[in-house]
Amino acid sequence: MGLLKRWVEAAKEEEFADSDRKQVFLDGKDVLVLKIEGRYHAIHNVCSHAFALMVGGLVEGHEIECPLHGARFDVRTGVNLTPPAVRALAVFDTKVEAGAVFVRI
Ligand code: FES
Repeated sequence: MGLLKRWVEAAKEEEFADSDRKQVFLDGKDVLVLKIEGRYHAIHNVCSHAFALMVGGLVEGHEIECPLHGARFDVRTGVNLTPPAVRALAVFDTKVEAGAVFVRI
C-alpha cells in the first residue's frame, strides 16, 4: 500500500436525498459520509473509544454522538469533544464532482 492518497467515489449526491448519511467501504476502510448543511464530511465509522459504528449516531449541528457510550466528535475535524473517548476519529477530505461525492483515502 502506497503513502499517496487518492480520491475515491463514495456515493452519488442523489443518495443523500432521503438520508444525511451513508456508510461506505473504501480501500478496506469503513467510512461514514455525512451531509450537513449542504456540505459533505467523511469520518472513520468506528468509534475511537471501543467498538461501535458511528453510522447509528445522533447528529446535532456538526457533532456526532457515539450510539454506544455517548462520546461526541466534531465531524469536521474528528476531534473528541466529550468522554469516554480520549482520541479523535480519523477524518477524510471530500469533494463533489459531476454529482458524485469523492473521499480522499
Ligand atoms: S464506543 Fe463510542 S463512546 Fe464508547
